[in-house]
Amino acid sequence: MKAIEIRNKYLKFFENHGHKIIKSAPLIPENDPSVLFTTAGMQPLVPYLLGQKHPEGQRLTDYQKCVRTVDIDEVGDNRHLTYFEMLGNWSLGDYFKEESIQMSFDFLTKELGIPVEKLSVTCFKGDEDAPRDEITAECWKKAGIKEENIYYFGKEDNWWIAGEEGPCGTDTEMFYDTGKPKCSKNCNPSCNCGKYVEIWNNVFMEYFKGKDGKYTKLQQKNVDTGLGLERMAMLLQGKETPYETELFKPVMDKIEELQKVDDINSRRIVAEHLRSSMMIISDGGRPSNIDRGYILRRLIRRMIRHMNKLQIDLEQISTLIDLNVESLKEMYPELVNNKEQIKNVILEEKDKFVKTLEHGEKEFQKEMNKTRELNQNIINGKVVFKLYDTYGFPPEVTEELARENGFEIDKEEFKKLFKEHQEKSRLGSEQKFKGGLASTGEIETKYHTATHLLNAALKKVLGNHVHQRGSNITADRMRFDFSHDSKMTEEEKKQVEDLVNKYIEMAIPVEKLEMSKDEAIAMGAEAMFLDKYGERVTVYKIGDISLELCGGPHVENTKDIGKFKIKKEESSSSGVRRIKAVIE
Ligand code: ALA
Repeated sequence: MKAIEIRNKYLKFFENHGHKIIKSAPLIPENDPSVLFTTAGMQPLVPYLLGQKHPEGQRLTDYQKCVRTVDIDEVGDNRHLTYFEMLGNWSLGDYFKEESIQMSFDFLTKELGIPVEKLSVTCFKGDEDAPRDEITAECWKKAGIKEENIYYFGKEDNWWIAGEEGPCGTDTEMFYDTGKPKCSKNCNPSCNCGKYVEIWNNVFMEYFKGKDGKYTKLQQKNVDTGLGLERMAMLLQGKETPYETELFKPVMDKIEELQKVDDINSRRIVAEHLRSSMMIISDGGRPSNIDRGYILRRLIRRMIRHMNKLQIDLEQISTLIDLNVESLKEMYPELVNNKEQIKNVILEEKDKFVKTLEHGEKEFQKEMNKTRELNQNIINGKVVFKLYDTYGFPPEVTEELARENGFEIDKEEFKKLFKEHQEKSRLGSEQKFKGGLASTGEIETKYHTATHLLNAALKKVLGNHVHQRGSNITADRMRFDFSHDSKMTEEEKKQVEDLVNKYIEMAIPVEKLEMSKDEAIAMGAEAMFLDKYGERVTVYKIGDISLELCGGPHVENTKDIGKFKIKKEESSSSGVRRIKAVIE
């Protein structure tokens, strides 16, 4: 069964079970700089798992484009991917364990035709935070899984949370038995030998883990599931790796045809990193030296080095992109329109890297020889950093070069130097931001203050559920995204606009206060991304109207803003509305 057929069957199945099909959120989370990429289907749904009402109801299903980069250096083996698609279904305070398990069982056995003997499941074994999950095990038995195929594990296997804090809970994982022999007497689904492949994870999200590490009960019991599409396609097609499925096969074959040196790992890295880069660029990502841009840069540069290893002419990147668009366009039609842009971005990045690659490799040789002369086999972190800083070598590229020659790199020292460097450039760009706006950006400054007034006015008119989700300011207009479920009426828009203009006419001074983050929270200051701020924060206070954490700059008095006018109100993403406004 092709991947797209699995996806379609999945969505249809859950639609038939009362779920609304929602759209995949972009890979680059909208208005949320605190995470680099969407890593799971639940991520865009967090507010709804916490209790906010979703406009589409309590049962949802979708396919979600995901990027996970923790295992970036494992790519090249037979299973790790940086880009993957997650099929998911959610109950937002609706059904819980029994119905969720029955649906998963029916989908796997009836829709996909997996024989029940091939399935094993795992449940939470219990600890001080939550009891042993016998209910889940009972549900599986009732559905038709034999007792000997039900396993219990602890938090490391059967508890799921995205990151350090947030909604979470026990989970039950489904495994497919490939039929390979057991690697030992104790071989079980938690073993990595390849006999059991995890295919689906149902999380019973009923807790919230706070910053302090404590668990509290959520106001509703949710189900969050995730099924890895590439893996499922691979298993149903009887393949050993996702690279043999229709998602990768055409591009893998082409790479093999073009290569002059044979290396299966390099072929996989080229195919995998190319697909990830294309998906990221298609959703608006661009290479840079920080955050998500840096991940994209690393993917492209590592791909290029492996093309060099295979001795493939780099001009062939274009051919490989064309081919990939052909293989993937049914699943991701957006790639067709974005193809030229994808090519431009990747080829431009290639040109940048090629200029320094050769010199960098020479430099690496020199340093390696020095290390060898010292009878050592660990390349100094300073060298790794120099290769990064001067020649644009991502650390994993240097690490691979080292390994190919029997050396290791001092990753920890590199990380330390890299962090220091990023801190410096962040400070640098903040300075630039302040200076730039103060001297040339008078109009942007006015818009900046207007966003605070708009935020306050929206809360007054629509309610306290309104929070800022993002904003974007140019000299010509402002854009403001906020949480709210329904379209604003003409009357509401007028009320908000009038209120902002009233605040402007009231000529209220704008005060800049400095305090600790805790004080700001205690005072009830608004903050979009609390985690992004350090311990000392700047808070802007506009009379009794508004109190917000913000870096500024702002006008001194609201009367300096001018006349505020809403031009447009529209949907931005689910549960988020967008206002475009101007100052006249
Ligand atoms: N959110 C769960 C996962 O990513 C389903 O495994």
